[in-house]
Amino acid sequence: MASPLSILGFAGSLRRGSYNSAILKAAQEMVPSGAEMEIFDLAGIPLFNQDLENQPPETVTAFKTAIRGADALLIATPEYNYSMSGVLKNALDNASRPYGDNALNGKPVAIMGASIGMLGTARAQYHLRQCCVFFNMHPLNQPEVMVPFAQEKFDADGRLTDPTTREKIGELVEALIDWTRRLK
Ligand SMILES: Cc1cc2nc3c(=O)[nH]c(=O)nc-3n(C[C@H](O)[C@H](O)[C@H](O)COP(=O)(O)O)c2cc1C
Repeated sequence: MASPLSILGFAGSLRRGSYNSAILKAAQEMVPSGAEMEIFDLAGIPLFNQDLENQPPETVTAFKTAIRGADALLIATPEYNYSMSGVLKNALDNASRPYGDNALNGKPVAIMGASIGMLGTARAQYHLRQCCVFFNMHPLNQPEVMVPFAQEKFDADGRLTDPTTREKIGELVEALIDWTRRLK
């Protein structure tokens, strides 16, 4: 039997009650048989310092190894000041270096995001897509999953309850799997 398609997910927020971590968890629960998804916690990724890029800390090596071991990535991005969070950009900068050792190279990736604003991370997602050009990643175009007014879509335990959002995330996971198989 073919080994399951592996997805690595990460969220660009370190906040305990993060909506982005919560939608990532929801996506993980929706992964169908034939695929599996692990979540990487970005909390241990230090600020990138180019002086040290040839002797990366263990956490960065572990992050790059996890990326390389995955068939596809799923990124949940917050929107901070109309862009992705520093946490996410820093993690991606670390993964992309040193030059010639870019772990993101050629990876299929799906992007989603949740914010308390009305555009649901649209601006952050398009910035992230711009960076994907230089990372040489293969972002999935559709569906776009932008979760606005996130504070209204979770229960007291932080579980995503909004049916439309759950459906969209399910579609995104299915589309990422299909996209990854097509690129293999
Ligand atoms: C520094 C900062 C900047 C923010 N900028 C935006 C923004 O540009 N657009 C937006 O919709 N929400 C913005 N927010 C609100 C975030 O959408 C909200 O904090 C959200 O919960 C962050 O994601 P998380 O729940 O995964 O931590 C900002 C929040 C912070 C802390």
